[in-house]
Amino acid sequence: MTTEKLAVCPGSFDPVTLGHIDIINRASKLFDRVIVLVSINAAKTYSFTTAERVKMLETVTKGIPNVEIDVLEGLLADYVREKKAIAIVKGLRAVSDFEYEFQMALANKKLYADAETVFLTTSAENMYLSSSVVKQIASFGGDISHFVSPSILYDIKDRLTKQVKTD
Ligand code: PNS
Repeated sequence: MTTEKLAVCPGSFDPVTLGHIDIINRASKLFDRVIVLVSINAAKTYSFTTAERVKMLETVTKGIPNVEIDVLEGLLADYVREKKAIAIVKGLRAVSDFEYEFQMALANKKLYADAETVFLTTSAENMYLSSSVVKQIASFGGDISHFVSPSILYDIKDRLTKQVKTD
């Protein structure tokens, strides 16, 4: 009997960038199935609603058959345990990401020891890229076409120039 190797790729995705898509794509080649999990980071306030973040992720991952989107309501470690996932996949851009990600990886390991956090290093062209950079550029009317998928470009621009948020 073969056991499916499932990975969870959690994040805020506020909004999903080309950097995220690159990590999701690469994770989809390493694991049988990947759940991209729209999660709450208690330290952040979001520009896009959960439903909007899910919709954008669904649009940009449409072509990857073993990727699905879900929403995390509670603790990541509990979700991973419940789904019997073997890995939590995160992207690392720079040394500055490391301390925070290392802390989360250790905490998650303590809460659920049977899954590993796997860090994928971002590709060189996405090193500088973050959702906050995209939001800042878009809110001043700048060109974000190099940073996000063309399929959601207009949704993001439209939303960030209007600055309305419902949850
Ligand atoms: O994209 P982000 O904001 O860096 O993602 C961080 C996120 C949302 C993955 C993290 O905050 C998280 O896992 N939140 C879920 C709640 C949880 O389990 N917190 C404890 C993590 S140690």
